[in-house]
Amino acid sequence: MSEPKLIILNDAQELYVRAAEEVAHITGEAICTHGEFTFCLSGGSTPAATYDLLATRFRLSVDWKEVQFFWGDERCVPPDHAESNYAMANRMMLSKLGLRPDQVHRMRGEDPSAAAAAAYENLLRKRFGLGDGEFPHFDLVMLGLGDNRHTASLFPGDSVIHETQRMVAGVKVDAEPRNRLTVTPPVINNAQRVMFLVAGQGKAAAVKDVLEGPRDPDKFPAQIVAPHDGELIWILDKASASLLSPR
Ligand code: 6PG
Repeated sequence: MSEPKLIILNDAQELYVRAAEEVAHITGEAICTHGEFTFCLSGGSTPAATYDLLATRFRLSVDWKEVQFFWGDERCVPPDHAESNYAMANRMMLSKLGLRPDQVHRMRGEDPSAAAAAAYENLLRKRFGLGDGEFPHFDLVMLGLGDNRHTASLFPGDSVIHETQRMVAGVKVDAEPRNRLTVTPPVINNAQRVMFLVAGQGKAAAVKDVLEGPRDPDKFPAQIVAPHDGELIWILDKASASLLSPR
């Protein structure tokens, strides 16, 4: 895995715009090379403004009919729940793009987590034509970083951090909502590109630990993200990057 590429912007607003620019660029490249763009979305609050920019200011920069949307994790709540990652992406972006229903592949947070995880694994197997032991190759996996160093729903101390076989797992985390679904590290690390979006002083210590701390994925789960052949990009603002060593 090559060194992560760090892009550090002045503030969160600039970060949101740059992230949308990067996504628009990546979609064009993927659609040109293989006719579609498989986009694995992050949840949480950070990406919301970028999703909105993609559906408004950058709407005409992307051939949206060739984009397939997936999720890296989901809370075990109904799709119209305030805490649903699908609901946030739908509100901020998907509902504005005139997509066909077959372009949106949400995790069914309303179902029991084991069944929902198995169903999403089957969806990935079918959609990517996977054989045994194979993992999907997303054009882009977008991730956030929790201040406890989690990413997706890979939380400190959870054995799923070291998962090597399953593609999707149901997990119980120490944040509300506690029951969640998450893709596993083999899925993330098989991506063409992984893009972290992290903003704000409150994330500075987490960014420092993950990028410059001792290697300890059990304590710093985001360290498990190391794409085998893909590119790893961190889009930060000065505040979230403020504890990093000068580069
Ligand atoms: C989720 C996300 C999670 C998120 C981080 C950062 O379901 O909450 O997938 O991994 O990216 O918790 O969240 P914020 O962007 O809200 O700080």
